[in-house]
Amino acid sequence: MWHLEGVDDVIKRILETAIYAPSGDNMQPWRFEVSGNTISIFNIPERDQILYNFEQRGSLIAHGALIENITLAALHEGYTTYVNLFPDKMNIDLTAKIQLEKSVVSENELYTVITHRCTNRKPYSAILLTEDQKDKLLRLKEDFPGFDLKLVESIDEKKKLAETISTNEIILLENRTLHDMFFKQIVWSEKEERKKKSGLYLKTLELPPPARIIFRLLRWWKIAQFLGRLGIPKKVASENAKVYSAAAAIGAIVMPDEGDATYIFCGRLFQRIWLQATAMGLSMQPLAGIIYLHRVAKKRAISGFSDYHLKLIWNAYSSIIKSSAVDSGILAMVFRIGIANKPSAYSSRRLPEIQYDHPI
Ligand SMILES: Cc1cc2nc3c(=O)[nH]c(=O)nc-3n(C[C@H](O)[C@H](O)[C@H](O)COP(=O)(O)O)c2cc1C
Repeated sequence: MWHLEGVDDVIKRILETAIYAPSGDNMQPWRFEVSGNTISIFNIPERDQILYNFEQRGSLIAHGALIENITLAALHEGYTTYVNLFPDKMNIDLTAKIQLEKSVVSENELYTVITHRCTNRKPYSAILLTEDQKDKLLRLKEDFPGFDLKLVESIDEKKKLAETISTNEIILLENRTLHDMFFKQIVWSEKEERKKKSGLYLKTLELPPPARIIFRLLRWWKIAQFLGRLGIPKKVASENAKVYSAAAAIGAIVMPDEGDATYIFCGRLFQRIWLQATAMGLSMQPLAGIIYLHRVAKKRAISGFSDYHLKLIWNAYSSIIKSSAVDSGILAMVFRIGIANKPSAYSSRRLPEIQYDHPI
């Protein structure tokens, strides 16, 4: 095994930037092993056990975003990357081995915004995307054969989409399993956020003051049940739907199949879209809940859904397919995109966990 002079430092810098990738509830389900010029990336399934991450699909998308960042950061350091996905059939947690080869430094606009990209849950303004912005975003799918990117801009279709997407909030607040899992991931204070550096930091949810009080109460299942009887989950969903539909566009990523590697490619495309949006001064928020619940329902993985909720999930999924004009393929991600003020807070990151096969 040859060993490049200083490659450990380069890899450390690359990974310290790459871990700014998004992940479900900011759980950062990854760790790294380094051998010479090769980085092995491992998923940590126990880190994100929420039902939305059923069969680790959300984590695979997060790993795709991470790999995209590694590739961009490596180019910035003057290295080309060779990515081998799922190289060990006996170990599904080894998502990729990435080999770095020395080449020339290549600056990329997307690299410069890796650490600025964030989930912005603030209300977005009604300003539409320009033709140039749409063109730049839509062109990104060309590097991903079989993938499609839809951008829905019509007011009526955005309204319909927003209403169906927000049914997620009804189910989240009415289904005990989902409710308990979700509230367990919340980070309630700045002190806790600084300590944990993972989880869904309350301040990033951008709740207006009255909603903030209700949200704190909702974490107790008995109170959630009581407020459920008063129709609060439907009210939350309809308020969120108004926020979602006001975005410049609602985007959907469609992928050709449901293979593990396809989810990784989806994550790479999603990250490229998000970085391109950031570079153009646009904000984004993934709105993936209902898609992941649909996957759970499709696989009949949980008997805890009421018939009413199952119907909501099926109807919502087919309605998203219709409103975003998806004619074939698998809906993999939905997001809103547009112009917004800066978020009130940002999610923190843990330092990357790197294990070397040699003394450093
Ligand atoms: C696969 C995936 C699904 C996500 N789904 C949602 C979602 O439904 N709603 C949401 O507000 N954020 C969602 N997020 C955003 C994460 O919560 C966010 O990336 C994480 O908390 C880190 O924050 P950051 O993006 O600001 O760095 C998702 C992220 C990923 C990777």
